[in-house]
Order: sequence, then C-alpha cells, then structure tokens
Amino acid sequence: MSTLWHGRFEGGPAEELMAFTVSLPFDSRLAADDLTGSRAHVRGLARAGILTEDECASVLSALDAVEVELRDETFVFVPSDEDIHTAVERRVTEIAGHAGAKLHTGRSRNDQVATDLRLFTKRELGVVIDKVISMQKVLLLRAQEVGEAAVPGYTHMQRAQPVLLAHHLLAHGWALSRDIDRLVDARRRLDVSPLGAGALAGSSLPLDPAATAADLGFAGVFENSLDAVSDRDFVAESLFDLALLGVHLSRLAEEIILWSTDEFGFLGLADAYSTGSSMLPQKKNPDIAELTRGKTGRLIGNLTGLLATLKALPLAYNRDLQEDKEPLFDSLDTVVLALGAMTGLLASSTFRLDAMAEAANAPTAAATDLAEWLVANGTPFRDAHAIVGALVRRSLDEGIALRDLVSASPELGPDAVFLVDPGVAVTRRTTPGGGGPQPVAAQLAAFSAQVDRDSARA
Ligand code: ARG
Repeated sequence: MSTLWHGRFEGGPAEELMAFTVSLPFDSRLAADDLTGSRAHVRGLARAGILTEDECASVLSALDAVEVELRDETFVFVPSDEDIHTAVERRVTEIAGHAGAKLHTGRSRNDQVATDLRLFTKRELGVVIDKVISMQKVLLLRAQEVGEAAVPGYTHMQRAQPVLLAHHLLAHGWALSRDIDRLVDARRRLDVSPLGAGALAGSSLPLDPAATAADLGFAGVFENSLDAVSDRDFVAESLFDLALLGVHLSRLAEEIILWSTDEFGFLGLADAYSTGSSMLPQKKNPDIAELTRGKTGRLIGNLTGLLATLKALPLAYNRDLQEDKEPLFDSLDTVVLALGAMTGLLASSTFRLDAMAEAANAPTAAATDLAEWLVANGTPFRDAHAIVGALVRRSLDEGIALRDLVSASPELGPDAVFLVDPGVAVTRRTTPGGGGPQPVAAQLAAFSAQVDRDSARA
C-alpha cells in the first residue's frame, strides 16, 4: 500500500493502523469543499510561478474529472485512501501525472482540512439559518391566524395569568431569532482562510495566502499559521449554537407533547405528523416532538465531546483534531431534520381554542387583576394581594363563585366584578412586551420585521 509518506517509511502501514485511523467513511462529505480548496491552491501555485499555465490547466481539469467521478459514483477508492484529501490527490496524480504530483506543493493536509471544514461549515450553517427562518415564518403565521385567542400562561406549570396564544408562540420565535443571530455571528467569525499555513509554519515558497483566501471567498486570512491549523473554535461554537437551538426546539417540543395530551387538550396533531401504536388502537403519538426532545441530548453530547477533545491539546495540529467532523456532521443533520419535522408539525397542528379559552378564563385567572384594580384605587399592593388571596381561598374552600365574593367584598364590590368575566383578564395586560392584545399587536409587527431582517442576513 502506497501512503503519502512512503518515502520516509520502509514498509506499509499495519492493517490495524489503517482500520483505526481512516476518516474517509465520514470525511468524504467534504469532497466538494476539498475540490474547491484545491482549485484555489492550484491557481495560487500558478500565480507564484510554481506551476506553469499548462500544468495548472491540467491539474484543474483533473480536479474536474474527479468531481465528475465522485458525482457519478464511478470514483474508485483504494485501500490507501485514508481520507478524502488523500483520495483526491491520488486520483489527480493518476490523471494529470507529473503536474498532478505538484498539487500538494506548499500545502499540508493540516491547512487543507481546516480550509475544507471552514468552507463546509460556512455553507451548512446557512442551511440551518434558512430552516430556522422557515420555522419562524410558521410561528408568525400561526400567531397571526389565532388572533386574540387566549391561553393560560404558566409558572411552575401552574396556571398563572392568561396571555394571548400568539404571545406564547412568539416567545419561541424570539428564542429562534437569537439562534439566528448566534449562527450568523459564528459564520462571520469562521470566515477566515487557513490555507497557506502549511503543516504549521508557512512555506519557503512564494505563496500568497491572502490571494487564495480571496479566491475562496473568505472574508479574511489567518494571522498565525500555528493557530490556523489548530483552531477548531468554529466547530465548538457551531456545536454550541446548534445545541442551544436544539434546547429551544426541545422546549417547544415538550409543550406540544403536553398540549396534545387528553389532560390538556389544547392541540390536535395532524395524522401526517403523528404516529400510531402497534398495540393500542386509539393512540396518536407526538413522536416528532419526543425525538426532538430526545435528540437534544446528542447535540449537547457532541458539544461536550468536542470540548473534551480540544482541552489541553498542544499546538499545533494533532490527529485528535480529526475527531471534529463526526459531531459536527451529526449535529447539523440532527438539527436540520428536527427543524423540518417540527416546522411541519407546527404548521399542521390544530389549536383547540375553546379548550384554551376555558382554561384561560377560569375565574382565578383574574386574581392579579383584582389586586391591581385595588392598587389603582390606592390600596398598597401587599394588602391587595392578601385581600384577593383570602377571597380565592374562601371560594375554593366553601365552593362559592369568586364573582359573588368579589361583589360582596367591601374593598372590591360590584364595580370590580367585570374583571372576572371571561376574556377580560387577558385584555388588562397592556404594558409593552406584555401578553394582552395591545402589546401583542405591536409585537407581531416587530417580530415580522425581525424575520425580514433575519432573512436578509441569511
Ligand atoms: N484526516 C485528517 C483530519 O481530518 C487529516 C490528516 C492529517 N493527518 C496528518 N497526519 N497530518 O484531521
């Protein structure tokens, strides 16, 4: 077996070494970016006069041929192809001969693999951002469509104060908007080319890393070759952003699971986005939401795993860094699939507005409004809280309707009874950013503008 380093070594590699160290099974996913990086490198070599125009053309056309073979799946991998970079270079050399053997001049797999992975991540984060925007659009649409429907707002999973359903939906939307902000930011920071750093120290050849960076569409170029080949901050950041995005999806998923129970009855799941039971004929299960919740564990694991790999790693390249790819690929795939499924689930679910209204209109939902009504009439809040609290306790203990107790109360009286009427409490939330119709109308406009801004940044 002929390796890239066969000159220095007397024999071929052990079977166990190859079995343990190959990355081809997963890094073949970087093929397109490897070709892109190699094309820019070859053009750089030509500009530096290291390759003649003819040699450059012949290597570029060999790279084109490799692209076709990979696309048509006619590319024949050989046992010595330990990674996609080795495989491409081997094949280019077979096709372009002497000129092909010049492809790797002034380059190491260390700067090559870092370049490929940055190109890949830059593009794939864009795919995630687009998917998040699609989900935001569904949240916005559904929030617009449910108008002034109310739902109980919860703290401690106990009914607290009613809010508009739109307010609840948009709460998830704003979290997603911060995810987009983080992903855009991560993409901006990773937009630096490591190509030209060589194995670790640069080159004696007259290469121009800034020119290859520009050729590749990177916004900047490395300042330090040691850092360039060993920096995987962009992978760690991406994994964090994806994990937090997953955490946000899992919180929404958890509510979908709860809301679709018979106990809540707030949400009906569409047949196409739910599953049945192999044994229980009546079941309709929220598997998409459950897997979104469950797979978030992997997203967190991928992040902590990579951080553990990077911890205490000395400069510069170490083979440990090959462990960056699988968690990244897995987190990207997981999040993209979860976003697609959750967006469909959200778009197709039926809100049971009557059940929500009934829960939101329970008389005790107005307790805070009764206390605030007293405050508006001069009662200190602590006293108001105690007065209303005592009424609620009596109502529950003695089974007397709260409205009757409010009406008979010396502090509250008949003027305050309207607060207990169905649908009134939610309208009392008028402060900016609050859950009543007035602020939510403003919020819908603000969120819509935010989605437009996010789309423009994507
Ligand atoms: N496949 C490796 C990786 O993904 C690149 C190999 C670099 N190997 C080396 N011995 N310098 O990191």
